[in-house]
Amino acid sequence: MPPQPNANLSIIVLAAGEGKRMNSRLPKVLHEICGRPLIACVLDPIQALAPGEVAVVVGAGSADVSEAAGTGKRFVEQAEQKGTGHAVMVAMEKMDPAFIEVMVLPGDTPLINLETLERLIAARRNTKAAASMLTAELDDPTGYGRVVRDLTGEVSEIIEEADATVAQREISEVNTCMYVFDRDSLEGGLAALTAENAQGEYYLTDVVKDFTSRGLTVIAVQASGEEILGINDRVQLAQAASIMRGRINTELMRSGVTILDPDQTYIDQGVRIGRDTIIMPMVHITGETTIDKGCTIGPCTTVNDSTIAEDCDVQYSVIDGCEIEAGANVGPFSRLRPGCRLGPDSKAGTFVEMKKTTVGRGSKVPHLSYMGDAQIGEDTNVGAGSITCNYDGENKFPTRIGDRSFIGSDTMMVAPVEIGDDAVTGAGSVIYEDVPDGSLAIERTEQRIVQGYKKKKKSKGK
Ligand code: UD1
Ligand code: CA
Repeated sequence: MPPQPNANLSIIVLAAGEGKRMNSRLPKVLHEICGRPLIACVLDPIQALAPGEVAVVVGAGSADVSEAAGTGKRFVEQAEQKGTGHAVMVAMEKMDPAFIEVMVLPGDTPLINLETLERLIAARRNTKAAASMLTAELDDPTGYGRVVRDLTGEVSEIIEEADATVAQREISEVNTCMYVFDRDSLEGGLAALTAENAQGEYYLTDVVKDFTSRGLTVIAVQASGEEILGINDRVQLAQAASIMRGRINTELMRSGVTILDPDQTYIDQGVRIGRDTIIMPMVHITGETTIDKGCTIGPCTTVNDSTIAEDCDVQYSVIDGCEIEAGANVGPFSRLRPGCRLGPDSKAGTFVEMKKTTVGRGSKVPHLSYMGDAQIGEDTNVGAGSITCNYDGENKFPTRIGDRSFIGSDTMMVAPVEIGDDAVTGAGSVIYEDVPDGSLAIERTEQRIVQGYKKKKKSKGK
């Protein structure tokens, strides 16, 4: 077993606030950036620290927050949100007393990096301080608690904006709400908290003042302003998403993916893309998606929860919950709904919609078609305007088409129906009975010619 440096560390994540400034039905920490809820973004580096225990303080919408946070954590309910200090008090009642160090993090700072948290832990351990706290210098510190230092430059207290004097508001060093405490000192500090301030809350920040007034040391560790961005409203949510997007795109480009316009490319956390794939502008790649090497995706394309193998070309299309095999062509203007599987070198072309449909190797559905609940064999061509009539208003039925068949343009296949191998359907046919291998099915009334029709009509009108 490798050494576990954080085995005696408890981590408390504060996620009980409803986030009034979001003006939302959804609890704040469930809002997402690049496909992951804020709480999950914060928990990623925490997990990597391998601490002794993790507690998440939950309140409003707690069941959903717990679900998003996942397993392996303790959830502590803070029934009434009386402030960050109160949230830590409630959590501390449930924490294992064996753990001598406590890290506190807010649930609304999704850009924090693992290395920064490691620096925060190391700073306290190296100095044996009562606490280390993460701070940042911001051009615009509005909304954050300010870090007040004494004449020697040591941290003396944190003043919340609502309680700050005009002069204190000028301070550009802000509190990030991320700390590591010596457990005993923290308990002393919490016991001394009162709610005598502008917001009538128990501020965790007041613990710092309690420490310094008792002669205990508080070490400030600095981080970049970008990393500590706290999400209180939707403007900050958009800022954080934009920064996260930049990180994702940069990493992908460094790994060999061409992104034509990174500012117009929206890729979720966790998406994997292979070397030499080209991502054109206005592409959204979301959910559990993997795209292999040598593909061209976009412009204007959404791929969600799908797998795309190498050398595929997808243009102006929407693909959701599908598997696309090597060399396949999609679009322009295809919509592939969940459950489709396009075989190698196959095609779903212009204005084609598919649902729960398998297209075999080399088969093509090039134009204006709907294929639903269909299984299409290999090297088959489905002509323009063909439709599987898979729904009778109550139930869905399957269509099967064999290998090397030719479905004439505008064939309606009334499911359930089977068309064999090497079969042909005549253009415009309504196929409602099975078509045996090697045969032609044609369903048309004979064409009639009425001579001189226009002339006759005119003379009638007179
Ligand atoms: C807090 C800090 C502020 C700091 C800022 C950094 C305090 C008093 N203020 O302010 O100094 O600059 O973070 O982003 O600590 N929460 C609970 N229970 C509560 C209240 C809050 O769990 O009763 C949670 C919230 O869900 C949130 C976190 O604690 O995830 C921070 O609370 P928030 O209200 O966002 O504090 P800020 O005003 O941002
Ligand atoms: Ca906040």
